[in-house]
Amino acid sequence: MNLQKSASPLMDEQLAFAERVADIIKATYVEPPKACVETYGCQQNVSDSEHIKGMLLKMGYLLTENSEEADFVLFNTCAVREHAEARVYGNLGALKHLKRRRPGMIIAICGCMVQQQSVADRIKKSYPYVDILFGTHVTYRLPEFIYNLLMGKKRVFNIETDQKEIVEGGPVSRDGDLKGWLPIMYGCNNFCTYCIVPYVRGRERSRAPEEIIAEAREMVAMGFKEITLLGQNVNSYGKGEAHGVNFAKLIRMINDIEGDFKIRFMTSHPKDCTEELLDTMAECKKVCHQLHLPMQSGSNRILKIMNRHYDIERYLHLIDYAREKMPDITLTSDIIVGFPGETYDDFCETVKVIKRVGFTSLFTFIYSKREGTPAAIMEDPISREEKGKWFTELLKAQEEISRKGYGEMVGKTYRVLCDGEGRVPGRMSGRTDGNVVIEFEADASAYGRYFLVRVNELTNVLCGTIID
Ligand code: SAH
Ligand code: SF4
Ligand code: F3S
Repeated sequence: MNLQKSASPLMDEQLAFAERVADIIKATYVEPPKACVETYGCQQNVSDSEHIKGMLLKMGYLLTENSEEADFVLFNTCAVREHAEARVYGNLGALKHLKRRRPGMIIAICGCMVQQQSVADRIKKSYPYVDILFGTHVTYRLPEFIYNLLMGKKRVFNIETDQKEIVEGGPVSRDGDLKGWLPIMYGCNNFCTYCIVPYVRGRERSRAPEEIIAEAREMVAMGFKEITLLGQNVNSYGKGEAHGVNFAKLIRMINDIEGDFKIRFMTSHPKDCTEELLDTMAECKKVCHQLHLPMQSGSNRILKIMNRHYDIERYLHLIDYAREKMPDITLTSDIIVGFPGETYDDFCETVKVIKRVGFTSLFTFIYSKREGTPAAIMEDPISREEKGKWFTELLKAQEEISRKGYGEMVGKTYRVLCDGEGRVPGRMSGRTDGNVVIEFEADASAYGRYFLVRVNELTNVLCGTIID
């Protein structure tokens, strides 16, 4: 756990609540109670959960991954697709029985899904055993919510959005010790017509550069070897701020921090991804040559209706420029299949472009209707079954491309960071700069170290030998 550089008065207030909760807990429990945080959704949520866990530790809870033994269970939820929400409702249902067995337990839910009024209302009405519900703008107020509950308040529901400033200075309990998340901004202003994120996360807000640098320094001092900068659209970092530090500049500042570590970032929006950024990536030694650049569709007609503000020509220009500057760059992307009004011809454009680019891997999604977004009321005549067929066709095409790409790595040598065990005993696993997994013979002492590994073969994973 670590404390960031400055604490805002709002955070001081919460830290005082946390102390009061800790006193109540000490007076109530013989053994420290256990808290379980289950996280759904993207890295932004994973990072928020790390802050929530930091606060829970401050309040005197121990952390557990097993909700069965927890005195406090929190779901940090995602709203991006229907499937994500369905899982939460299912798992919330299961908690009902758990609470019946353990009447004293506290059940809390937070995150993007419950930021929607309709969801908050549904949970209030149909899930009476949920004690605390809070939205994405008030996450930092968890100690106050727990305090109020412990002081006799029946249920705490809060999805206010008035808090616009970022509240700095809370404790963090990071999940790993090698690779860490570093949020640089929150929210999104882009309103892609299919996407719920701007509605549940609010407007774009950037953290001050000195806060980010202080946190990055701390992470390096703690031994982290990889820092991933997080934001829904990192390229618009600092827009409208007086400090004048844009994303490329911020990267340079982090690159200047002394130490043996690597920098990654996500997500880059193609409309704001600049040549300056790609030049910066190429020039900064610590920045991994890996770019996740969500394309969403290969059809200009669909990109326009999606409100993405780029066309495929611009997208391909960025890809070509990135490859010219960094011939070893690994490229990945997100694709939505079956956006309302998409035809098979539009879909074929997407397949054509993915073949042209040759992504290392793709994150593919079937369009999911999100109430309140413009696309939700667009005509959507293609059946789910048909979309499923297109989806399979896309997966097959990409599988071939990925396999070819991995195949080309055989015989070459890569610097990898060993970050875990391999799939079979005696092997450890690592990732290249491009974030590709390679397994090699080594024991547990290899964890956290860099090696030069020569790739020998491609089975269901790339396997290699340490040469240095
Ligand atoms: N801010 C990031 C993406 C965040 S959401 C960006 O703009 O790239 C991650 C991915 O989920 C998106 O890139 C998109 O491909 C997918 N997604 C978002 N809304 C969706 C929806 N309604 N249905 C299906 N996929 C969706
Ligand atoms: Fe959603 Fe678009 Fe914002 Fe990404 S950029 S979070 S897809 S609205
Ligand atoms: Fe999901 Fe919220 Fe992330 S909707 S994808 S957890 S920003």
